[in-house]
Amino acid sequence: MERLGVVGCGVMGAGIAEVGARGGCDVIVVDAVEEALDRARVRMAASVEKAVAAGKAAESADAILGRVTFTTDLSALADREIVIEAIREAVDDKVELVTRLDTVIPDSAIIATNTSSIPVARIAAASVRPERVLGTHFFNPVPVMPLVEVVASVQTDPDVADRTQAFCEDVLGKKVIRADDRSGFVVNAILVPYLLSAIRSLQNGVATREDIDEGMVAGCGMPMGPLRLCDMVGLDTMLLVSESLYAEHLEAAFAPPALLRRHVEAGLLGRKSGRGFYDYSDQQ
Ligand code: CAA
Ligand code: NAD
Repeated sequence: MERLGVVGCGVMGAGIAEVGARGGCDVIVVDAVEEALDRARVRMAASVEKAVAAGKAAESADAILGRVTFTTDLSALADREIVIEAIREAVDDKVELVTRLDTVIPDSAIIATNTSSIPVARIAAASVRPERVLGTHFFNPVPVMPLVEVVASVQTDPDVADRTQAFCEDVLGKKVIRADDRSGFVVNAILVPYLLSAIRSLQNGVATREDIDEGMVAGCGMPMGPLRLCDMVGLDTMLLVSESLYAEHLEAAFAPPALLRRHVEAGLLGRKSGRGFYDYSDQQ
């Protein structure tokens, strides 16, 4: 597969498009919002420059970026072999997108969802070709984190899952693990309770945000503190993921802490909005 479509180019979509272009794919990126495309262009260019400078890209930045087209027009995906959706973590939005994709892309094309927490079967059921729908769960930041969880639903054709795994490994250069189609798959079912527990510690006044983060970095060897990681993921995404995990598993560890809700209600969404648990206004 060489013709890749990516829908949604926020935190994750821009990274997925970048690794696709670095892997030699012709990439078309679609977002509903023109400014999101502009921001993604800038972020992608900076990231590719960084990869080239670090000796991690086989080609020049111009050659890589020249393979990426940005548009707000979904019908531009008409010749794609695989489309990866990375729009916001809301089942109704993803279902609506899949039904629109069905009318645009070829019957033979694969639809992959980058959902963090919605069972793939729920999204696939909206499609006229559920056997060609599966999960490809990338990790943030996509150009750096090697993992993709490939998730076949009860309806996914095993050959589609095998071809998508080969695409992630051979073209995108990722490590793949297979995960069951349950909310949180393998990694988020373990990671998210830890992140929510850090937010609860802050909420309960156990320590300052800096000491909670320092505790997990200096004490447990984490590459960054959990509150900074929540800000990097996006607190709106953290809330939607937590709600979805809780709805599936009904375990208190997945329930969203009030402090997370308050931040989202206040528009403090983390790094992408300039402020979350920390202030990033000087980095915008
Ligand atoms: N392209 C390619 N490589 C890049 C790159 C780019 N744009 N930017 C950086 N790199 C490489 C660097 O060259 C470096 O490689 P080496 O180790 O070989 O030297 C490496 O990536 C680290 O780069 P930096 O030194 O710039 O960054 P850092 O050391 O400060 O680490 C970090 C930054 C990778 C974000 C690190 O803090 C980290 O791993 N944090 C945790 C991230 C994490 O847990 N992600 C998962 C989030 S949860 C999720 O994604 C699931 C969900 O559904 C919500
Ligand atoms: P985001 O909010 O940063 O970006 C979403 C983008 O999708 C926005 O640019 C928005 O304009 C666009 N969009 C929304 N609806 C659209 C539509 N119908 N058509 C076209 N574009 C549309 O979100 P994100 O953090 O990149 O998350 C995207 C997906 O990836 C979610 O399912 C999320 O759970 C998952 N995910 C996120 C992370 C993370 O760390 N943020 C990690 C892994 C997986």
